Amino acid sequence: MKLPLSDRLLACCQFVSPNDRVADIGCDHGYLGIYLLKNGIASSMIEADINRGPLDAARRNAVKFGVKDKMTFHLSDGLQRVPRDFDVLVCAGMGADTMMSIIHHASDWLKNPKYRLILQCQSKRPELRQWLYDEGFRINRETLAKDGKFVYSIMEVAYDPGHGITPAETYITKQLLEDDHPLLPEYYERVKSGVELTIFGLKRANDDRLPIYENILQDLIAMEGQIYGNRS
Ligand SMILES: C[S@@+](CC[C@H](N)C(=O)[O-])C[C@H]1O[C@@H](n2cnc3c(N)ncnc32)[C@H](O)[C@@H]1O
Repeated sequence: MKLPLSDRLLACCQFVSPNDRVADIGCDHGYLGIYLLKNGIASSMIEADINRGPLDAARRNAVKFGVKDKMTFHLSDGLQRVPRDFDVLVCAGMGADTMMSIIHHASDWLKNPKYRLILQCQSKRPELRQWLYDEGFRINRETLAKDGKFVYSIMEVAYDPGHGITPAETYITKQLLEDDHPLLPEYYERVKSGVELTIFGLKRANDDRLPIYENILQDLIAMEGQIYGNRS
């Protein structure tokens, strides 16, 4: 029986280390946790979802793939009803507002360098990155994955206050440049087009935020040497 794990979730799994105890918040089908257990990567999985339907599906899939003994299942809004004995939190396939709300509501204990957070966000990524730094989190690593026509970014984050991020880096981080993934030029072009579109809208509306986005675009263009430099 083949596990239908997307490249996006596979990329999240790449940031999990051997023997990590992992909590998948918004686990839905549970495939990420099943993959991590079947491949001997995670030592245990906390599966959590706000909705009973997905959680039941995760439980059924865990039985089907023979990994239920190493999983626990929690009906929970974010981390509210989830045990804290894990090393790595995964939040994938959610929007930035949901992720910020989940992290915010657990911040009194989650702001601890012992936890690593693997975040794959579907919307408003620059806002999420800025918010993470404002809250004292730092991106350790970031990579890319493609499913269908979408290119996704996957970050590994931990509490490590005192670091900053520039406005342009909230679009293309230093960590993404270091990762130098083959998808980086494609991701960069999409990000740049989004900023150009924002500038177009701001110009038409005579909006005074225009210089901010023009500076971001300039700084992004300055990254092109690094993005395209080593590629033919
Ligand atoms: C689009 S699915 C993504 C599933 C899987 N993580 C993935 O990336 O393929 C989002 C899942 O998150 C759950 N969810 C949404 N908000 C949540 C919250 N506040 N707490 C826990 N789960 C939540 C939904 O019920 C749904 O199962």
